Amino acid sequence: MCGIVGYIGSQQACPILMEGLGRLSYRGYDSAGVAVLDAAGHINVRKAKGRLENLAGLLEQSPVAGLSGIGHTRWATHGEPSDLNAHPHTDLKGGISIVHNVIIENHESLRRHLQNQGCVFVSQTDTEVVAHLLSVLYEGDMRDALIKAMGMLEGSYALGVLCDAEPGRLLCARHESPLVVGAANGAAFIASDIPAMLSHTRDVIFLQDKEIAVLSADGIEVFDQLGEARRHELYHVAWDLSSAEKGGYAHYMLKEIHEQPQALQSTFTPRNVGDPHEYRWLPVTPEEAKRLRKISVVACGTAYHAGVFGKYVIEKLARVPVTADIASEYRYRDPIIGEEELFIAVSQSGETADTLAALREAKRRGAKILAVCNVVGSTIAREVGDTNTLYTYAGPEIAVASTKAYMTQVEMMLLIALALADMRGTIAPEEAERLRHELAGLPAKAEKALLTEEKLQWFSSTASQKKHVFFVGRGLDFALSMEAALKLKEVSYVFSEAYAAGELKHGPIALLQEGRLVVATITQPSLLDKTLSNLREIKARGARILAVCREDLQDRVVGEADELILIPAADDLLAPLLAVIPLQLFAYCMAVARGCDVDKPRNLAKSVTVE
Ligand code: G6P
Repeated sequence: MCGIVGYIGSQQACPILMEGLGRLSYRGYDSAGVAVLDAAGHINVRKAKGRLENLAGLLEQSPVAGLSGIGHTRWATHGEPSDLNAHPHTDLKGGISIVHNVIIENHESLRRHLQNQGCVFVSQTDTEVVAHLLSVLYEGDMRDALIKAMGMLEGSYALGVLCDAEPGRLLCARHESPLVVGAANGAAFIASDIPAMLSHTRDVIFLQDKEIAVLSADGIEVFDQLGEARRHELYHVAWDLSSAEKGGYAHYMLKEIHEQPQALQSTFTPRNVGDPHEYRWLPVTPEEAKRLRKISVVACGTAYHAGVFGKYVIEKLARVPVTADIASEYRYRDPIIGEEELFIAVSQSGETADTLAALREAKRRGAKILAVCNVVGSTIAREVGDTNTLYTYAGPEIAVASTKAYMTQVEMMLLIALALADMRGTIAPEEAERLRHELAGLPAKAEKALLTEEKLQWFSSTASQKKHVFFVGRGLDFALSMEAALKLKEVSYVFSEAYAAGELKHGPIALLQEGRLVVATITQPSLLDKTLSNLREIKARGARILAVCREDLQDRVVGEADELILIPAADDLLAPLLAVIPLQLFAYCMAVARGCDVDKPRNLAKSVTVE
């Protein structure tokens, strides 16, 4: 995944592009570049390997001036991160400059074709092919050249194009990769994601697949692949820049952990209006709910862990079999799914390639499709349609490691479980009412769970040199442990794995010895005795135990663990959402104690739009 920005207007483009790139650097940060068209009609390109600061340094030594330009922050797919492979790429004469996201699948055959026509390639990227292709196809109108090129490109792309022969225009196009264009007075913007333009405008258009936008200081025109004009209403973004900035926190990850009470509230409120037994927000009728034979929850990474949580709660409440699958496995394993089955794709970004492909496969096989998604206008949301998309209202998530989006995904799983259970008659109405009431009180308890930060900071300072950490739990606590282990490895690079506590003795216990650290999550009273005997097995091997435990269970756990982190008492199904918070804080504090780049962990990207 990479980030694209573009600007045309009456101000200097370069500072605007750099600001936008800064806000997109979560999308990739192994190299960056800008191309700006100067007053003399020349495109000046600057690019640098490494973080955006390197590019900023280069621009200080060698500034570029001009009122239109494009920029890019890269996460390498074709060709190593290097100055040469960084975008923008230009054609031979340097008159066409482009930035690109995702992959041109037929780049090799196009490259051969273009080389035969005399094009000389300087980088290893698939992107450079597009710059040369546009140059060959250009006959005086870049829009027409782009239309022709799109007919020849296979794969997915978001493109930004700057052309020295057309100084008053900036062009972009997309296919299966996000691209937003923004309109302001006398200026227009391109970006892969809204925060990049938010300090300039909140009025945006989400381009659809195979659409082209032609931007000028006077406005934006959108065309389809045949060159027919398309009408788009401007969408006014509800959140502002402060929602996408650090707001005094040391890192986005910490800020986003602290935003979880609000995120819980915002996601719950729209599902708690009107007749509580009608579930208008869920596009499943009571008849459909009763006929449901199976539910498949499919996702990647953190979102997959929310799916595992969903499996536990939906089966428990709604008494319908649920499978939770990793999308990259699901899509290739000839899945059994069809009518009267529900497929739920979970995705923060709504752009994950594997999740999207799995969703299409399930759709093709006749399943009813829902998406749980955080980004309005994202590819998955559009593919499924707004009616069938259950938005999590976590707000913009910038840190690569997902926290508040996960929280709202598990909350959404609970809400779906509750709604289906009520419609299927597998829960007493008063019990459904009680759970809803508990859910309404969750944000206040989440605030209290955040108070564990100080103790975790201290604990992490004593544990930061650990090389291995195991996470254990049973039932919902196992689902949480999977996410906790992922969070720790993502941001602190400590080897961490999650095990179902009862499974320890079937192998992993061989790894336990003096000095190992085990984090146990304990929120389920019905499984407490079993979990405690697992803790004794761990203790007997000399490992140190940190227990994240419900306040009302502490009397039983004290003495069994070396350190206790207490979360407020809550219903058995809801307490895990509170336990998530100290587990995330633990990962965060460990990463800080180890001096890691918390918001931009190595090798990771916020959303993975390639296979
Ligand atoms: C990437 C991110 C993960 C995320 C996963 C799924 O791997 O680094 O944090 O959980 O993609 O992303 P999605 O946007 O589909 O939830």
